Amino acid sequence: MQKILITGANRGLGLEFTRQYAAEGWHIIACCRSPESADELNTLAAGNSNIIVEKLDVADFAAIDQLGVKYKDTPIDILLNNAGIIGPIPIDENIARQHFGQMEYDIWEDVMRVNCYAPMKLTETFMGNVAASNQKKIICISSSVGSISEMNIPGVAYASSKTALNRAMTIAARELKPKGVIVGLFCPGYVKTRMDAFGYAMVEIEESISLLRPMIEALTLEDSGSFRGHDGRIIGW
Ligand SMILES: NC(=O)c1ccc[n+]([C@@H]2O[C@H](COP(=O)([O-])OP(=O)(O)OC[C@H]3O[C@@H](n4cnc5c(N)ncnc54)[C@H](OP(=O)(O)O)[C@@H]3O)[C@@H](O)[C@H]2O)c1
Repeated sequence: MQKILITGANRGLGLEFTRQYAAEGWHIIACCRSPESADELNTLAAGNSNIIVEKLDVADFAAIDQLGVKYKDTPIDILLNNAGIIGPIPIDENIARQHFGQMEYDIWEDVMRVNCYAPMKLTETFMGNVAASNQKKIICISSSVGSISEMNIPGVAYASSKTALNRAMTIAARELKPKGVIVGLFCPGYVKTRMDAFGYAMVEIEESISLLRPMIEALTLEDSGSFRGHDGRIIGW
């Protein structure tokens, strides 16, 4: 039995990860912040007893601790840090509240907490569960916009949160290597989820996850701390 914990499992990439891993017989701890309105996830779980839906707002670190206690003795093959927020973008309110010169610092804090601190908190909480499993993997859904060498975008909060996530997770990778735990950072491509507010995305959700899962499966300890795109390309820091 293989087990995966997925954050943000109610929609977008997290829901598709849940769907595809469930179809392959995995046991899934499907976390979302509002299970009462997670209709698609609940329907999926109703038809598959291997999916357990858990309420988790990843910004609530006490809730992460509580979930850690609940699953204290459960090996988890993959911790999948997927939940993320982009923060306000001009299309939302016609003002650039995360652009240089107009920064709103409470927004930046929220984005950093969800996209960077929470994956680290989840990693610290569940690293023992992962180390006790067969696959021993911690996967974070990052973004190429966090790449300083490759991307140039105006949104400070989102981009810097992914840059910080990448740096934090390369440190976690080094610390966890002696325990045999593999850490992987992946950009899913520009995917047609709700995050694609501009409607420019070219990659279908199903396609992105179908490409990412074999790469996650193939990840070895030698690859730990690497950052790849959905096309398998190593992305520059
Ligand atoms: N789509 C892209 O083109 C793209 C590109 C690069 C990276 N990514 C990354 O891919 C990941 C998934 O994004 P997506 O494209 O699937 O976007 P999405 O459709 O907007 O989904 C985001 C998911 O994160 C959840 N979430 C947000 N804040 C949360 C919190 N505090 N606690 C728990 N869950 C929370 C959302 O739950 P609610 O329904 O409760 O809000 C939702 O399930 C993110 O980390 C994102 O940065 C996406």
